[in-house]
Amino acid sequence: MTGGAGYIGGHVVRSLLGRGDGVVVVDDLSEGSAARIGAAELVRLDVADPAALGGLTAAMAGADAVVHLAARKQVGESVKRPAWYFQQNVGGVAGVLAAMERAGVGRLVFSSSAAVYGVPAGAGAGGRIAETAPTRPVNPYGETKLAGEWAIRDAATAWGLRAVSLRYFNVAGAGWPDLGDSAALNLIPLVFEALDAGGVPVIFGEDYPTPDGTCVRDYVHVRDVAAAHLAALDRLAAPGPADATALNIGTGVGASVRQVVAAVAQAAGRDVAPTAGSRRPGDPPSLVCDPGLAWRELGWRASAGLPEIVASAWAAWRSAHDAGAPAGGAVA
Ligand SMILES: NC(=O)c1ccc[n+]([C@@H]2O[C@H](COP(=O)([O-])OP(=O)(O)OC[C@H]3O[C@@H](n4cnc5c(N)ncnc54)[C@H](O)[C@@H]3O)[C@@H](O)[C@H]2O)c1
Repeated sequence: MTGGAGYIGGHVVRSLLGRGDGVVVVDDLSEGSAARIGAAELVRLDVADPAALGGLTAAMAGADAVVHLAARKQVGESVKRPAWYFQQNVGGVAGVLAAMERAGVGRLVFSSSAAVYGVPAGAGAGGRIAETAPTRPVNPYGETKLAGEWAIRDAATAWGLRAVSLRYFNVAGAGWPDLGDSAALNLIPLVFEALDAGGVPVIFGEDYPTPDGTCVRDYVHVRDVAAAHLAALDRLAAPGPADATALNIGTGVGASVRQVVAAVAQAAGRDVAPTAGSRRPGDPPSLVCDPGLAWRELGWRASAGLPEIVASAWAAWRSAHDAGAPAGGAVA
């Protein structure tokens, strides 16, 4: 597995180890932490470095399958450093595919993203996005994820790779308190950070065409996301022709910024009175997936709703911040 030392990867590693699978983690530890991978073996290298191809191939020796999570994932940074994002994220997929072909490993689960959809038509009307929606990313990060999907699809055609690309929506929460997302770059940890600083969270835009005027997103528990990887690996292990499928990974239920702030207030047991800010450019009003294809293809369904997601995230945030220790990992 690549990127196993990160936020989502740590959950996938622990879930795989928990069911008795052997795991080798390839990670450069640029964002993650070795503390997150437990008993799994760590191979420290940059998957996008052509000079690391031999090491990457050796790390895959004897593996049944690869889960490729390692990537740069900050949208704003991708706008400022597009070439680096292509080098890292598309170069990373290319390196992983080359190593898999060399090592004779024929099954791949890839971390894609809802960012491949960009700003879907009808996103303000509460419509849910299916995989058949046009893929029109609006930033370099989303473009690199879509290009990764294309490279994987082409490998399926060229040499028989069997692959599933998982298009995660808004991953949040913590499956274990020590595996939380400690960086305050997503809405939920941003609200936590504001509370800890004694401030109030800002809501960017309250005049969107949504039920309460604030943006709506599909929050999916990271524990459910990890379970989707195990289900995808099982699907790929079953006999079938080479193909490359892309599946939405979300709940199909949207939560507005106001609802998230209310859930945080509930979990933290505090009054939270957000202030109104102006809209941020490029924020679609609503991004909620139709998860039906993943239900049918994987026999997988997200089980946690917003209250459980936020409560688990809060418990992890408290355990990281009250102890005064870094939580190890992850920006989002
Ligand atoms: N967090 C989300 O909400 C979300 C949503 C959609 C997609 N994703 C995707 O899921 C994957 C995992 O995200 P995360 O939230 O766990 O991120 P993260 O930053 O916590 O984890 C990424 C891990 O990959 C490693 N890494 C990055 N580039 C590397 C490279 N070139 N070589 C080796 N290791 C490298 C980092 O050290 C880190 O441990 C990413 O591909 C991301 O794009 C995340």
